[in-house]
Amino acid sequence: METKIIKITDKAAPRDEELMEAAGILRQGGLVAFPTETVYGLGANALDEGAAARIYAAKGRPSDNPLIAHISCMEELPALVREIPEAGKRLAEKFWPGPLTMIFPKKSVVPDGTTGGLDTVAVRMPSDPVANRLIRLAGVPVAAPSANLSGRPSPTRAGHVVEDMNGKIEMILDGGEVGIGVESTIVDVSGPVPVLLRPGAVTLEMLKEVLGKVETDAAVLGPLGNGVKPRAPGMKYRHYAPKADMILVEGETSRVVGYINHETKKAVEAGKRIGIICTQESRALYPLGILAVVGSREHEETVAHNLFSVLRDFDGQAVDCIFSESFSDDRLGQAIMNRLCKAAGYHIIKV
Ligand code: TXA
Ligand code: MG
Repeated sequence: METKIIKITDKAAPRDEELMEAAGILRQGGLVAFPTETVYGLGANALDEGAAARIYAAKGRPSDNPLIAHISCMEELPALVREIPEAGKRLAEKFWPGPLTMIFPKKSVVPDGTTGGLDTVAVRMPSDPVANRLIRLAGVPVAAPSANLSGRPSPTRAGHVVEDMNGKIEMILDGGEVGIGVESTIVDVSGPVPVLLRPGAVTLEMLKEVLGKVETDAAVLGPLGNGVKPRAPGMKYRHYAPKADMILVEGETSRVVGYINHETKKAVEAGKRIGIICTQESRALYPLGILAVVGSREHEETVAHNLFSVLRDFDGQAVDCIFSESFSDDRLGQAIMNRLCKAAGYHIIKV
């Protein structure tokens, strides 16, 4: 299949003519990748089981891993969910449209093929003007996982989507680089106490400010013990994995730098290529290795924004091993550390 790529002229105010064909493809059961404020999504009609099946095939995604249904406005929510719990209303008021996904009890119109057989459905209302307008024009809720091959880092620009999806889907809308760079926060509001299932740009601190009590699912905090099921099925898979082995080094900065330099020197002498994920503040301290500066510790938004693209770039450089500095685990740092831990398969060294 030839994948048509359409460049959006002004991503802040896309013209309907540029989105019409994509909307038609979605309505007819086809696949369209599009930018959102978090990462690029791979969209299909969420109410069409056959279209959802094509998403799983294109991504190579296990079919027990449910999809998020994207809507353009609040009026589109009641068609999908049996109930909007109070916590859901409050969060929607504060954070929608935006980088927040909520889990609701689902109505039967949402097929099992979209929700992996669960009785709940994940819903998000993106704020990105291209995403939001596309969903409105399609006239159907749009199921959209991140537009990467299963297991690869999520795409933050159209070129990443081309790498993973060219020839497998009908269309890619190129809206340039996304803003946030890590996927949406997921909160389950279907039970008595809201539960954070995946950290993102709407931070735990922000959720608590609105809701008071919020629990955190075990899968957010660390590797899952044998037999423990995460509430977001996707959190059990190794995600965001670069091709090289990756080791996350935690501790006081000078010790982290010392450890990475020591290990890098040994590896380089043994003929290995080593990648190092470092920060603006530490970049001058590494004499060896291939450096990827992910941003400044003073500005974690840039770190989140660059993270997946740095992991993808290393795939192109044939490094044998990647060492990464670690970050604070509060606020946006929680989302950054969650993705880094998963990329490293929880291979963490404390120094
Ligand atoms: O930012 C985002 O959320 C992006 C953009 C495209 O919107 N989408 C995204 O989708 O990250 P995906 O498929 O890569 O991640 C969806 C996550 C998975 O971990 C999945 O298990 C979880 O949401 N999920 C979906 N439906 C669920 C449900 N009913 N209950 C619990 N977890 C659910
Ligand atoms: Mg994903």
